[in-house]
Amino acid sequence: MMKSTKIALILGMIMALFSCAEKENTNIYPGEVWKDIQGNPINAHGGGILFHEGTYYWYGEMKQGKTWRVPYLKWECYRCDAGGVNCYSSKDLVNWKHEGVALPSVKVDSTHDLHTSKVIERPKVIYNRNTGKFVMWMHIDSEDYQYARAGVAISDHPQGPFTYLQSMRPNGAMSRDMTLFVDDDGKAYHFYSSEKNKTMHVSLLNDDFTAPSGKYKRILEKESREAPAVWKHQGKYYMVSSGCTGWSPNPAQISICDSIMGDWKTVYDPCVGADANKTFFSQSTYVVPNPYRKGEYIYMGDRWNKTNLEDSRYVWLPLSFENGKAKIEWHKEWSVK
Ligand code: DGJ
Repeated sequence: MMKSTKIALILGMIMALFSCAEKENTNIYPGEVWKDIQGNPINAHGGGILFHEGTYYWYGEMKQGKTWRVPYLKWECYRCDAGGVNCYSSKDLVNWKHEGVALPSVKVDSTHDLHTSKVIERPKVIYNRNTGKFVMWMHIDSEDYQYARAGVAISDHPQGPFTYLQSMRPNGAMSRDMTLFVDDDGKAYHFYSSEKNKTMHVSLLNDDFTAPSGKYKRILEKESREAPAVWKHQGKYYMVSSGCTGWSPNPAQISICDSIMGDWKTVYDPCVGADANKTFFSQSTYVVPNPYRKGEYIYMGDRWNKTNLEDSRYVWLPLSFENGKAKIEWHKEWSVK
């Protein structure tokens, strides 16, 4: 081959490589398809974030394939096969690399908690600095949502693979929508919608974070809140949660407390502007501090597409404080920086 032909060939290959590479994301577009850096739509619903050694990890439900409605239930119980828990990593919260399936569902044993016929929802991962383990908790349920349990898995690495340990009804009570929160003193708490979703519980985890410690408190009694996301701001504990309307959006509410196992009070809807009463067609799942803007946070929500769950989108919006009040406003496009 002539030298000039060789050079042309190499140049052509380099150009082809560049044209295949995905463009970097600079902004967040709530409700639009959000692609990972490999070019595929991010599939991490009902998710949460772990920040570990300079990297953000986004864990969420993998929803794949056909959505169907469970025929014998009166309420709109739309389902798709449980795909397990996906993990993505990022340095900037905007460009995400798919790390793989951190906890796969189980294809053969239909009695297993992680069987594709079951519900695996709202996974959250925390790091235990004493054991060096990454601990995942998630909502495990049967297709009719009557199993109402919390599942636990552990790993030596943030991206997994996670080993499933067991599921339980924490403190003997039902557990559906859930989140985890690690306080500044290293203690971890499990918040879960309990008592037929009517009352929430906050439960202190044991030292290795793999089981309830036995100390818990019933909060938001008979308020029927689900989709809890908890964070701490200027020494106070905040929760954003949704009402219970299946996959359909409803108004969000902020609940506040001075101590994590204290007397939580539901105080106001943080959303302002058009469609605020539907949480901008989303449901809360997590709140992460915005590292680029001190004192500000990122509200992470899911915009469920109940008849095509795989095509559910993400509504991430700035959450700021104005005169001491949490506020979430709609932005069609915004930058975390
Ligand atoms: C509302 C919950 O927040 C979701 O995680 C999911 O369980 C749906 N209900 C199912 O209808």
